Amino acid sequence: SLCPSIYYRAIKPNDLDRLEQIHRDIFPIKYESEFFQSVVNGVDIISWAAVDRSRPDDHSDELIGFITAKFVLAKDSEIDDLVHYDSSKGEETLIYILTLGVVETYRNRGIARSLISEVINYASGLSVCRGVYLHVIAHNNAAICLYKRLMFRCVRRLHGFYLIKRQHFDAFLFVYFINGS
Ligand code: ACO
Repeated sequence: SLCPSIYYRAIKPNDLDRLEQIHRDIFPIKYESEFFQSVVNGVDIISWAAVDRSRPDDHSDELIGFITAKFVLAKDSEIDDLVHYDSSKGEETLIYILTLGVVETYRNRGIARSLISEVINYASGLSVCRGVYLHVIAHNNAAICLYKRLMFRCVRRLHGFYLIKRQHFDAFLFVYFINGS
């Protein structure tokens, strides 16, 4: 097959079906249709997609990876105690990563790393933004290795944070501080 040529772009309304399908395929948690609507319409959610332009025509713009995130006021966040406050710059915010995924056949090529870089670069350009944070289930070694590799700091273990099929699972909270936090 052709050598992949991966591009990163905004997520748009006609990505809806594919976005939902990949979430269903790779996450143990069910997301509501309102969530997907917010992502594709960019309502309160910021997101990036990865596509492989070397695929045949009708697939060359199809999502093979994505990252979704939202703004949270630092003072209202669960890591308010870790943020450095400087009121002269306006109200501090954080970016919370909601979902990150790469379809299986495209893994281990640096796509997740690039998607996270998109978020960090975007966040770094906003002087009020103090960091990027996320939760990850404690047994997800691939994702945990990824966040550690990208210099996220594990600041907390949250007992029973996730409830999946009536079973509780711990989560780690990872933070990447920016803009002097
Ligand atoms: N084992 C160990 N380390 C890994 C693995 C793995 N399976 N996958 C990635 N890494 C680490 C490596 O250190 C790698 O750096 P290196 O290549 O320089 O050694 C680094 O992460 C970057 O890896 P990428 O190739 O960018 O990661 P990939 O594109 O394969 O995507 C992801 C990783 C997103 C975790 C993918 O496996 C996936 O989609 N999994 C299912 C969904 C998921 O778990 N998403 C994250 C849940 S948490 C959340 O959404 C907030």
